[in-house]
Amino acid sequence: MILLLTYLLSGMAIAAAKPLDKRLDNGLGKTPALGWNSWNAGQCNFATAQRALQAADLFISLGLKDLGYTYVNIDDCWSTKSRNSSGYLVPDPQKFPNGIKAVSDQIHAKGLKFGLYGDRGTQTCAGYPGSLNNEEKDAKTLASWEVDYWKYDNCHTTNENSHTEYEKMRDALANSGYKVFYSLCNWGRDNVWTWGGKVGNSWRITDDNFNSWNYVATIAAKGASIAQYGGPGGFNDWDMMQISNGKLSAAEERAHMGLWAIGKSPILLGMDLTKISQSSLAIVKNKGLIDINQDALGKPATTFRPSGAPAPSSKLYPYWAGPLSDGVVVGLVAADNAVTLSVNFTDVPGLGAGTFSWTEMFSGKTGSGTSVSAQLSLHDMAVFRVKKV
Ligand code: GAL
Repeated sequence: MILLLTYLLSGMAIAAAKPLDKRLDNGLGKTPALGWNSWNAGQCNFATAQRALQAADLFISLGLKDLGYTYVNIDDCWSTKSRNSSGYLVPDPQKFPNGIKAVSDQIHAKGLKFGLYGDRGTQTCAGYPGSLNNEEKDAKTLASWEVDYWKYDNCHTTNENSHTEYEKMRDALANSGYKVFYSLCNWGRDNVWTWGGKVGNSWRITDDNFNSWNYVATIAAKGASIAQYGGPGGFNDWDMMQISNGKLSAAEERAHMGLWAIGKSPILLGMDLTKISQSSLAIVKNKGLIDINQDALGKPATTFRPSGAPAPSSKLYPYWAGPLSDGVVVGLVAADNAVTLSVNFTDVPGLGAGTFSWTEMFSGKTGSGTSVSAQLSLHDMAVFRVKKV
């Protein structure tokens, strides 16, 4: 009897542990996703076919597509407030007059990909139908629409610290017959970075990047502390960009882009692309930074402590480095005040004694030697790509 009970219990433990062992092996997200999302640009008002198609056209005319920006993602508020009589999600006929498939077809015809948003609970955060207990139905619907990216939110649940329903949707997507990038949006709850790689292609690590320097700095500091969890197929998602949304200085926009790029976060632009300023456009089109973000090694940079520098705390720390397939990236950020920051290569993980050549990504300056230094205004950043001479 006791033996039987032990056997049954161990069987249950194996069954309970099993879903986490199964990776979503869809071959996607080998490097962080690059694209645009409607939410920061205009919340519910931007969840329309017209905005999606406009963004796709602007990816091409602004030269973003050529740099690798691919995903055009519509966030919350795209559906009607209730399912149809057969229990299926229905696109809002005002916002998507020709349905979703027509939009994804047009976006695919431009060589881009299309994404949508849902929620693992009973409703999305804005009160549209969630997928709880409809996972298979919804995954099949997405497949029939050829949706390439599915962001899955965490509102209206009985337990926001649970991963069960994220696994249910993973399995439903895996069986749907169409390959979809699976983006977990549980705001860093439940230590998602420890299991996200077995469930999705990216996972949000914090609450939203609401539009201020403080959020940018706090999210980046968090990203540094869990950098080791990101890699090809599954990356820490630092949340959508707030560049060109009116609250960050030019220096802060550079640091926002620089930190997200070296931290190997997805870069999902969040501005109204019809209104992007020239200076913001130059920042998000920085090819050197995008190349670093998309480096095949897929290893997020994190902070390091040069000799003589104050110890890191939970706040944004100025000194960053990470490996690239052909060298090392060094980031210097003026976290607290205008400052000149310098590092000797002997202090940088992955470098050491000897002479190295470097290129700085914002100024294009190049040089070689045993150290780098940058004179930075408040919250500005310099990013050096460093190689052995
Ligand atoms: C939040 C999510 C945001 C956005 C919003 C939509 O939970 O973190 O990125 O998707 O919901 O309602």
